[in-house]
Amino acid sequence: MAKADFRAAQREPEPTFDCMFKILIIGNSSVGKTSFLFRYADDSFSHSFVSTVGIDFKVKTVYRDDKRIKLQIWDTAGQERYRTITTAYYRGAMGFILMYDIINEESFNAVQDWATQIKTYSWDNAQVILVGNKCDRDSERVITPEKGKSLADQLGFEFFEASAKENINVRQVFERLVDVILKKMAEGGDTDPSITSGTKTTRLTDTPPELPKNCAC
Ligand code: GTP
Ligand code: MG
Repeated sequence: MAKADFRAAQREPEPTFDCMFKILIIGNSSVGKTSFLFRYADDSFSHSFVSTVGIDFKVKTVYRDDKRIKLQIWDTAGQERYRTITTAYYRGAMGFILMYDIINEESFNAVQDWATQIKTYSWDNAQVILVGNKCDRDSERVITPEKGKSLADQLGFEFFEASAKENINVRQVFERLVDVILKKMAEGGDTDPSITSGTKTTRLTDTPPELPKNCAC
């Protein structure tokens, strides 16, 4: 090995990120969870519907105040038969995107149940954004933005309407979620380093975090 290469190998590896947030996308089948994630992570969209089996995830790095934040985004299956598997992943999640479809009343009526699932299987400080997806199909809508906002207020969630198809508010939803998680962390003051630690010891765990503190963010 050349001297220069040897010296480089001896050096501390460059940290790849400062914080890691585990985020879940939940909601009824066909509301557009997978499409929303693909739009965000890959800037792609498909008209075909391939219902998710179980759970899948993608990783995306965002930058906030000069900090690299790694988002581990879990895309859950909306179908009832996968509920036992998917709720097992709620532990340790710091944020949820709870999605309904503005042209599907049943998916909106199910929001309360999904919120209860979060309360049951997640930790108290998990942040939630309610998203009414498919706002590009405005002429077919059965849920008004006012109705969505009112339910979000009632549940104490933030609210957006979005379209994975037309790329409306997709990035904004994720960025807002990151911001509210960071805000909660700043308010809370305590941390579980296994979830949110800085550069060297970060690892993923399913242990639900206490309010993060001393995070490098
Ligand atoms: P499950 O995996 O079964 O839980 O469904 P899902 O919520 O992941 O739904 P998916 O993303 O697979 O989308 C369902 C269908 O809705 C697909 O045919 C998508 O092309 C379509 N779709 C998703 N988002 C939008 C959107 O914003 N606008 C329109 N018009 N169609 C969308
Ligand atoms: Mg899916």
